[in-house]
Amino acid sequence: MIRITNLIAILALASTTGHAQQDPVAIGKKLTTNNCAVCHTFGKGEPNGQGPNLFGIIGKPMASEPGFKYSAGMKAAASGKVWDEKLLDAWLTDTQSVAPGNAMTYFEGDEARRQKIIAYLRTLH
Ligand code: HEC
Repeated sequence: MIRITNLIAILALASTTGHAQQDPVAIGKKLTTNNCAVCHTFGKGEPNGQGPNLFGIIGKPMASEPGFKYSAGMKAAASGKVWDEKLLDAWLTDTQSVAPGNAMTYFEGDEARRQKIIAYLRTLH
């Protein structure tokens, strides 16, 4: 007979295994669609929304999307900066620490979620 504690252990193991098998990029895509797509587009050549198109954002100079009207704060912070994973992580944690006075009113306080969002953004090339 299976004791209840064993059963709980088995269920816990099954759920962590299931979770580990989920692709972080796929989770990141979902998080990005749910949390960023209201303001951003992600496909090549797609129009800007309230925020700029983010195709190829990793490796791209800050505030360089043609046709997007960046805030003065964003333009002032941009000089010579290129988006890499570290800068994106800082940006999503607290945009104001990266570009004071910028106009993006969103942050993601959960590190694991940020990492998955960034893993997805990395695939957009
Ligand atoms: C409420 C709208 C909104 C949401 C939600 C939002 N953003 Fe933004 N984002 C903006 C705006 C507006 C800007 C431009 C800011 C400026 O010019 O000051 C921006 C700028 C950016 C930039 C800089 C782009 C460049 O060309 O330098 C990145 C990177 C970015 N957002 C990523 C994200 C990610 C990833 C998410 C989701 C986790 C997200 N944003 C959610 C509105 C939003």
